[in-house]
Amino acid sequence: MVSQELNERLTRTGRGRPAGEVLRRYWQPAALVEELDGERPVVPVTLLGERLVLFRDNEGELGLIGRHCLHRGADLCFGRREDNGLRCPFHGWHYDRNGQCVEQPGEPEGSQMYKRIRTTSYPVVEKNGIVFAYMGPDEPPGFPSFDCFRAPESHVFAFKGLWECNWLQALEIGIDPAHASFLHRFLEDEDPEDGYGRQFRDRAADTDLPMTRLLREHPRPEIRVEETDFGLRLTALRHLDNGYTHVRVTNQIFPGAICIPMSREMTITQWHVPVDDESCYWYALFTSFDEPVDKKVMREQRLKEHRLPDYAPLANRRNRYRFDPEEQATLTWTGMGLDINVHDQWAVEGMGPIQDRTREHLGRTDVGIVRYRRMLRAAMEAVAEDDETALPMRGGVDVSRIVGPVSNDAIAETADWEAASMRADRERRAACHWDASV
Ligand code: FES
Ligand SMILES: [Fe+2]
Repeated sequence: MVSQELNERLTRTGRGRPAGEVLRRYWQPAALVEELDGERPVVPVTLLGERLVLFRDNEGELGLIGRHCLHRGADLCFGRREDNGLRCPFHGWHYDRNGQCVEQPGEPEGSQMYKRIRTTSYPVVEKNGIVFAYMGPDEPPGFPSFDCFRAPESHVFAFKGLWECNWLQALEIGIDPAHASFLHRFLEDEDPEDGYGRQFRDRAADTDLPMTRLLREHPRPEIRVEETDFGLRLTALRHLDNGYTHVRVTNQIFPGAICIPMSREMTITQWHVPVDDESCYWYALFTSFDEPVDKKVMREQRLKEHRLPDYAPLANRRNRYRFDPEEQATLTWTGMGLDINVHDQWAVEGMGPIQDRTREHLGRTDVGIVRYRRMLRAAMEAVAEDDETALPMRGGVDVSRIVGPVSNDAIAETADWEAASMRADRERRAACHWDASV
């Protein structure tokens, strides 16, 4: 339970807000590269409450600048794509990709006013299918050498989806290893062979045990949390009846991402980035340690459940997430279909636009959430004091040396679970076609 004042501090992300200032010290996903694939590579982007426009100019370079023309506020998403910039259709003011106004064709001949007109502009880079933006002060930090960035483009697939709630509750479901035994419970096990591209549909580690059954039959994981140089490592232990333990390692990557196993082959690195304080996007990089990702299948699976251009899920609160009481009685715990993204979406959107944490009661399974909030509070205080050393992966740290993170499922003899989990990760990395060494 937290005070209303603290809840506001943790959740609000506008410029100048404590959590917003922390998020602005890190690269944030702004769009999928595929959004710029059409004939006209200009897309509206609202990020951390700031209204922006992302475009690719004639030289192929990206620009991310303020959405509203500094003359009288017209919407530059409809701007004319000319001369490596955008020209406002209203009176023709022209901005280059750095946000500098370079021409005001309606002003008197010889006017120098344009030199003083410079709109918001943020650095952007493309990484494996996602355009990342840096909205903070000073120089942007480097990118850590995480698997999702090191893997070749053939082994990574990027997608996103809109959730109508605050970013923090969206993130917190990803550091709550207990919910999988309930929210994602399947009352019958499907053939894991049909599970390509889907979460919790593989076999557990190297066994014949479907993950669905393992989660269903072992609902009280022992959860351990450790701080790391990138955030938190969460280990969920499910002790089986035969002297073996299922070990699931997931991660919180500070400030807004998680890295979790999806199947034996793939991990998911997923950012939860505020559009504004009451809606957010998840951006995922699915990373394969085995065969190249079948992007066509992965994309079709997800496009069946989302509409373009805003990647809003087709199951949503307006159609009650397609809730079916018959299905809830016989097939799934939620009655909302087999796509676990819908379950997560229901869980976090149902809390309301910003969860009222003055009324929550955290239990033992919420240890990851407690530790994360502590880190976020420390980071907010550090930023307020202008001391970046308390921010993970900032303050002069060489982030290119940060690798991994380890993110996997393993079955181990109980006494040996820690070593066995590391061994399983090492084996997967050793067999990987790209350099996944850590
Ligand atoms: S509002 Fe853009 S040029 Fe006038
Ligand atoms: Fe979930």
